[in-house]
Amino acid sequence: MLEWLDQTPSTNAALAARAHTLPHGYALAARRQTSGRGRLGRTWAEGEGNLFLSVLLKGVPAAELPLVTLGAGVVVAREAGDRFALKWPNDVLDREGRKLAGILCEAAWEQGRLAHVIVGIGVNVRSAPDGVPATSLADHGIHTDASTLAESLRTALVELDRATVLREWSERSCTLHRDVEVGGIRGRAVGLAPDGALLIDTGTSVERVITGDVGFL
Ligand code: BTN
Repeated sequence: MLEWLDQTPSTNAALAARAHTLPHGYALAARRQTSGRGRLGRTWAEGEGNLFLSVLLKGVPAAELPLVTLGAGVVVAREAGDRFALKWPNDVLDREGRKLAGILCEAAWEQGRLAHVIVGIGVNVRSAPDGVPATSLADHGIHTDASTLAESLRTALVELDRATVLREWSERSCTLHRDVEVGGIRGRAVGLAPDGALLIDTGTSVERVITGDVGFL
């Protein structure tokens, strides 16, 4: 249930267009992606030999939506190995803070119910884009190919459960136990809520953060 396209503007967009007719766990990958979408309206660069993958998840409880993003980070970090860690909510970084992979989850709602989620995963397998702090598996001496990685990620993603995501994300995190700032909230990142929200201890209260970019202080 992993289909390869030679080229597409965005694997997330291509999968969304067919999501109604495809089953849970179906995945689309592209050898070239020309208009990759990133979080918060950003773009995702193309790069030969890199992985552009989207996986369709159906039947996800709406309350568990934030956990899907965290789970995608977990499966990428597992494959990449212990020299990489997870920045909340969805970045996979090396020890120098350079980005290896990005995740964009897009949810579709119908009559107030969550119809499906498309989990978009971009991994710099062979090369990292210029002009941003980014790295690739190849930069770290890890030589794998995008098709092997795509199949492993797809399989692992559909097998994840909530408890595993919360435990493994916390173990692989470079966010917890650090002083952070997200959306104007500053304090110590102390843990994850059961729904995947980041808990920040400001010194006077523990705040739940459900979206935003984490800055390290
Ligand atoms: C981010 O870090 O901003 C998220 C980047 C997500 C990029 C992936 S590549 C495959 C999938 N298709 C897209 O258009 N975007 C995601």
